[in-house]
Amino acid sequence: MKTVLELLKSHRSIRSYSEKPIPENLLFDILSAGQSAATTNNNQSLSIIRVTDMKIRESLCQVGGGQSYIKNAPEFFVFCADLNRSYACCDMHEKEPVSGMTEQFIIATVDTSLVAQNVGIAAESSGLGICYIGAMRNDPARVCELLALPEHVYPVFGMCMGFPNQNPEVKPRLPLASIVRENSYNLDNEKELIEKYDETLNSYHQGRSENTKTVIWSEVMSKLLAKESRPHMKEFLLNRGFKMR
Ligand SMILES: Cc1cc2nc3c(=O)[nH]c(=O)nc-3n(C[C@H](O)[C@H](O)[C@H](O)COP(=O)(O)O)c2cc1C
Repeated sequence: MKTVLELLKSHRSIRSYSEKPIPENLLFDILSAGQSAATTNNNQSLSIIRVTDMKIRESLCQVGGGQSYIKNAPEFFVFCADLNRSYACCDMHEKEPVSGMTEQFIIATVDTSLVAQNVGIAAESSGLGICYIGAMRNDPARVCELLALPEHVYPVFGMCMGFPNQNPEVKPRLPLASIVRENSYNLDNEKELIEKYDETLNSYHQGRSENTKTVIWSEVMSKLLAKESRPHMKEFLLNRGFKMR
C-alpha cells in the first residue's frame, strides 16, 4: 500500500477506463471523504452533479469537444460552484443578500476545487483513476441547461472516474524552486528553471510508452497566453448572477 506522499506523487490523469463499475458504497466513501475538505467559513459552497443519464453524458461529451472518456468513463461528475444554498439561507432568515461579490465567486470556486481534489485523491487511493474536464466551460450555458443548474451556480469542471485501462507514466512537474520561493518573489533564475523543465518534460513526452511527441512546455504556455481563452466566460458568469463587484 502506498503512503499518502507516494500516492500524491503517483497521480496521472486517466483517459481510458475499464467497464467495471465503481461499487456504490465505494463511491459514497469517496464523495464523503472529498466533502471533508477545508471550506471557507464552513460555506461548503459547491454541488456535485453525478451524471448517470447517458443522453446527458452524450451531450456533455459534445460540449467537451468529443473527448470520448466523458461518455465512456464509468462515472462522470460536474463540480459546480454553488451560492444558491446561501441565498436559500438568506430567505430562511429574512436577510437581503448582497449579490455578485467577486469574493463570493472566489470562495465558491476555491471550495469546489478543494472538494474535487479531495475526491480525486480519495478515488486514486482506492485504485481508481480520474481526469478533470475543464472543457465543460467550452459551453457552460449548455451545461447549466443540461443539468438544470439554478442561478448563482456554475460548472467549474467535470471529472471522469473509473478503474484505469491504461498505465501512463507520471508527468514531471516544474522544479520545486520554480514555484516555492522564500520570503519574496525572486525572479533571478526564472527562465533558467523554465528551460530546465522544457528539457525534462520533452524527455518525458519522447520517452513515454503512449502518444510520444515533442513538447516544449514554455512554447505551449506562450501560445496559450497569446490567444483569447474562452472569452464567453465573463458574460456567462454575469448572466449566472456572478456579477464580479
Ligand atoms: C481544471 C482542470 C481541467 C482539465 N481539463 C482537461 C480536459 O478537458 N481534458 C483532458 O483530457 N484533461 C484535462 N485536464 C488534465 C490535465 O491536462 C492534466 O492534469 C495535466 O496535463 C497534467 O497531467 P497529469 O494529470 O497526468 O499529471 C484538466 C486538469 C485540470 C486540473
